[in-house]
Amino acid sequence: MELLQTLNKEHDELRQGEVFSDATQQDQFTKHFYIESYGCAMNFADSEVVASILAKNGFGSTRNIEVADLILLNTCSIREKAEQTVRKRLTEFRKLKTQNPGLLVGVLGCMAERLKSKLLEEEKLVDLVVGPDAYRTLPDLINDAGTGQKAVNVLLSRDETYADISPVRIDSNGISGFVSIMRGCNNMCSFCVVPFTRGRERSRDAFSIVAECRDLFEKGYKEITMLGQNVDSYYWNNPENNSSTTFAMLLETVALISPTLRVRFSTSHPKDITDEVLFTMAKYPNICKYIHLPVQSGSTRVLQLMNRTYTREWYLAKVARIKEIMPTCTVSSDIIAGFCTETEQDHQDTISIMQAAQYDYSYMYFYSERPGTLAAKRYEDDIPEEVKKRRLQEIVDVQWTLSNESNKRDVGKCFEVLIEGDSKKSDAEWMGRTSQNKVVVFPKLNHPVKKGDYVEIFIAGFTKGTLLGTLKTN
Ligand code: SAH
Ligand code: SF4
Ligand code: F3S
Repeated sequence: MELLQTLNKEHDELRQGEVFSDATQQDQFTKHFYIESYGCAMNFADSEVVASILAKNGFGSTRNIEVADLILLNTCSIREKAEQTVRKRLTEFRKLKTQNPGLLVGVLGCMAERLKSKLLEEEKLVDLVVGPDAYRTLPDLINDAGTGQKAVNVLLSRDETYADISPVRIDSNGISGFVSIMRGCNNMCSFCVVPFTRGRERSRDAFSIVAECRDLFEKGYKEITMLGQNVDSYYWNNPENNSSTTFAMLLETVALISPTLRVRFSTSHPKDITDEVLFTMAKYPNICKYIHLPVQSGSTRVLQLMNRTYTREWYLAKVARIKEIMPTCTVSSDIIAGFCTETEQDHQDTISIMQAAQYDYSYMYFYSERPGTLAAKRYEDDIPEEVKKRRLQEIVDVQWTLSNESNKRDVGKCFEVLIEGDSKKSDAEWMGRTSQNKVVVFPKLNHPVKKGDYVEIFIAGFTKGTLLGTLKTN
């Protein structure tokens, strides 16, 4: 029992969560799978594609690991710690598997792609290893694994986008939905494993994207986040008439589905976000005024080693352009502390670029060398761990101050908030987000509003990462 409790417990600092619609024993399925997803939003979206493929092949979903015939981990390789978390989880499953010899355990996603059949050898109790472009073959692989054969498919594809697969929504609040618009990445940032685990960049058929967004809207969703490692380089050529669709055009088409459908996107590479995209954002009130624009480092020398293709000055000019076109737009970033050869001066440059860009929020990491990447081949991982950690802490502290200042600027103002559900702390409060992607909490009192409504909120204060407000009544 204790083991099951451990296995079922919510955990981990990664965006991790088991999925979903509580099928369990009462549904029409005779077999059930349990899936946990790690890493980026694209991995979470892929789990929804996997759920759809499995549902068509007789597997219902369950969030109760006890009744699962198949356990899947959709894994991330971005940093070593992400892989360690998965390995730990696999050892936890080991006992369960000895108790239930028919149980199959599969590893999906980026770690499957990176380690390939090595995973079967290293983790003796893994039965399936399936890379991100091979999910259509899952039903066959499950059959193979069920008869004791080696079940591995880690072939990457140049054209797979799962465009025709209608994802089964997982762990969704019924208000915000994620839609993958492209796969892979061609950028080759030297620190990054993604081009190796996800393969070449390819854009999904624009019609299928718009149809999926429209379908979500018709089902009551109020917010779409378009996903890709580098959404601004979205480019789809229609084979029927040879016309092409850019990201700005796609953004506009999705925004036009309805003015009451919010549109977001992630992630933007600073080198690819165009004025056309910024003007499209400015033109439509329902395109959220928030851009995640990872800088990685504030030092031009380090940026060059990272192969980011922009300089410090170029990046800051891009942020200035965003604010010029959309003065209310918030900007967030990803930052890596302690990349190869980083000096104290380089680190100070990162701190000063954060201050100059006035990030409203940042995701901050220390550098973790990934085997096979350009940086691992070319540069020595020469910054001692304690230095990396100290620099990271300084970066976190700076961001803390910047986020507080950003929140302070919002106090006394009104924002349109989309209600996503109850606040985490209390069901006497609603939780929602502003267009700028800030979380807002406000008391329900007896106001006749509900999840999915847009409301005007007056911001009276804030705590940590949350704005505190009151509903404006007319
Ligand atoms: N495609 C996105 C980010 C994908 S990975 C982009 O280009 O911005 C998310 C973040 O993880 C990266 O922005 C980077 O900050 C961080 N990251 C990637 N590889 C890393 C590594 N080897 N060590 C530490 N952080 C890393
Ligand atoms: Fe990795 Fe760079 Fe591609 Fe982002 S753009 S996924 S950081 S290679
Ligand atoms: Fe991780 Fe793969 Fe996403 S490495 S960040 S799950 S693309």
